[in-house]
Amino acid sequence: MKNYIKYDPWKIIEEDFHPKYNKISESIFSLGNGKFGQRGNFEEGYSGQTLKGNYVSGVYYPDKTRVGWWKNGYPEYFAKMLNAPDWLSFELLIGDNAEKLDLSKCKVENFSRVLDLKRGVLERSFTAETQSGRQLEIHATRFLSIHRDEIAALKYTIKPLNFTSSALIISGVDADIKNEDSNYDEKFWTEISKAADKDIYVIAETKKTKFRVCSAVKHSLLFLAEEKVLKEKFAAKKYSIELTEGKVFTFIKYAAVTSTMYYNEDEILNKTLEVLNSAAQSGFELLLKEQENAWDEKWKESDIVIEGDIAAQQGIRFNIFQLNQTYTGKDERLNIGPKGFTGEKYGGTTYWDTEAYCLPFYLSTADKKVAHSLLVYRWKHLKKAIENAEKLGFTNGAALYPMVTANGEECHNEWEITFEEIHRNAAIANAIRIYIDYTGEKEYLSQYGLEVLIGISRFWAQRVNFSEEKQKYVMLGVTGPNEYENNVNNNWYTSFSAVQNLKYTIEAIDYVKKNSPNDYERIKKECNFDEKETEKWQQIIQNMYLGYDEKRKVFIQNDGFMDKELIPVSKLDAKVRPINQHWSWDRILRSCYIKQADVLQGIYFFENQFDTETIKRNFEFYEQFTVHESSLSSCIHNIIAAKVGLYDKAYQFYLNASRLDLDDYNNDTCDGCHITSMGGTWMTIVQGFGGMRVKDSMLSFNATLPQKWQSYSFKIRHKDNVLKITVNKSGTKIERLSGNPTKVLVDDVIRDI
Ligand code: BGC
Repeated sequence: MKNYIKYDPWKIIEEDFHPKYNKISESIFSLGNGKFGQRGNFEEGYSGQTLKGNYVSGVYYPDKTRVGWWKNGYPEYFAKMLNAPDWLSFELLIGDNAEKLDLSKCKVENFSRVLDLKRGVLERSFTAETQSGRQLEIHATRFLSIHRDEIAALKYTIKPLNFTSSALIISGVDADIKNEDSNYDEKFWTEISKAADKDIYVIAETKKTKFRVCSAVKHSLLFLAEEKVLKEKFAAKKYSIELTEGKVFTFIKYAAVTSTMYYNEDEILNKTLEVLNSAAQSGFELLLKEQENAWDEKWKESDIVIEGDIAAQQGIRFNIFQLNQTYTGKDERLNIGPKGFTGEKYGGTTYWDTEAYCLPFYLSTADKKVAHSLLVYRWKHLKKAIENAEKLGFTNGAALYPMVTANGEECHNEWEITFEEIHRNAAIANAIRIYIDYTGEKEYLSQYGLEVLIGISRFWAQRVNFSEEKQKYVMLGVTGPNEYENNVNNNWYTSFSAVQNLKYTIEAIDYVKKNSPNDYERIKKECNFDEKETEKWQQIIQNMYLGYDEKRKVFIQNDGFMDKELIPVSKLDAKVRPINQHWSWDRILRSCYIKQADVLQGIYFFENQFDTETIKRNFEFYEQFTVHESSLSSCIHNIIAAKVGLYDKAYQFYLNASRLDLDDYNNDTCDGCHITSMGGTWMTIVQGFGGMRVKDSMLSFNATLPQKWQSYSFKIRHKDNVLKITVNKSGTKIERLSGNPTKVLVDDVIRDI
């Protein structure tokens, strides 16, 4: 755990320069606007430890799969989030010896890097002394506009403290970029065109997928002479400038980043230059004002205020900020990658994380179109999910959604996950239920949902087999959310969820049949669906094998779990944690240690099917063996702990979740922030401490106040209402900020709001 980020309710602050944490800081100080994003790289370049990272939504590259032993069924490629052309970086070369400003070669003082969450602005300032003794004071302000989501702007001021000299600024666009995780050390971009005349731009194209990205920049500065610099995949201007001791020199860079996701090849350049010129004409200050106003609007809907605990306050706002800058729901082709715009690790853009951990945040804090877009994304991928299942031998429209994808095709390639971690299907089906329960929009079923549910139910019906031995349906060879055990039989979470999916699909069929008969006939035809299929589904529902330990009165995570040496995590030597960095995989697989919520994930999803005693027993049994080595673990544990009254534990899980990246708990924030688990962090406050549930389409709150906090409040959009929930020592207060009179359950009593 690191502890170098200063506490502040609205800002993320790094004071003093920490070169050895620079890659962590670059992740934390990332910016995005839903369309494109970038890591918190230094504008003037840096030769120390850095991962230069720019990312454009929806733009990916199918990197050829690289595995030791090829297994039939593996995808041919892995869709990587592409590190994209860099519009930001420039070089400052001072004096006759062209001394480059590079913090890794300077003495740095008064360094501070501040991400202002309220305004969506990143600022950095420092004084640097170069190797030849030149002292400069620098201040940089930049943002990626969420108001004009193709625009970014940077203001960079240079004040020479002890010299007057000529200097050069070389600034433009660099498309000669490589992914750190490229499988064959290959570059994925080719150049289409470039210029550094009146307009400075590079249009680059991805190999194979043929996405084009146009990055254009415009500068505002006082210069003596200018020259163009054109190299392969690089276009810039070299400006000769004069730096005068004690005087501030200001350099402004505007950028427009667009792609063929939104424009045709023949119009992309003109459109890009149009938005760029209009931004430059508006000027930096106006763009900044727009940015502040746009973020103000976002915070009005999604802020959570915690009084009495600044670390907790900063943590939750950082998470909300990242979620809002990663996904805006404007485009149904986009999704939320585990690292968002903050790094490359993991690849692909969509995991089960979206449905299981992110959906509730967008559902409750944004227009319902946003959550709707997330659901429709999967509907659009249904055909590919059916093809994916066919590749593995399934038939008749059975759908297996990919473990990792960018365009609907599977791109993950570890057999024990790709073929076996099939519980992802359950989260996708369950998301439809969550959406409908929350919005009351049952017509979603006839428009989109039912087809997805039928595909998934068909998959479950083929994935189980009837065991003569047990006289039950069993599900063999699976991996549950706990990836620390693979190829297990009868993973309780997967089997239980499959049963819930089958039940819900049957209910959905009945509903659509009754309420939208025409749609029902259309769907039947399109899916080639025969109602007789549900007979087998009913048999599975009645007869699924779900392991139960009579002695301990808990569900059995999977066959064989109770045979393990059951030694609680508390008895493990701290030196071997995290176990995935200290133990062999073989040892981990045979151990009882659980990576993330597994049985408890099922209890969380289908909570209303269990009494509190059952929930508590299972929590106490499984939590003691859980090492939480996935960022997705703490939030589920927080919510269940709060539900069963284990408040101290709930608070600890909250802190782990919300400060995971700020404090680098898992030692891996250098690769990028854990964006999808941030949705889980939001859930810890709203569903964990706030105890929010939907009961018969009514919101219900059973809140608790962590001891350290004086109060907390959050806002919820539900149907046409915006509600503000405040929890303090005297109880739970609910105000209706807009909408119509409604009823809400508070501590199980109906209140008119
Ligand atoms: C977790 C998965 C998750 C993935 C991406 C893994 O470490 O075990 O559940 O989908 O990370 O966040």
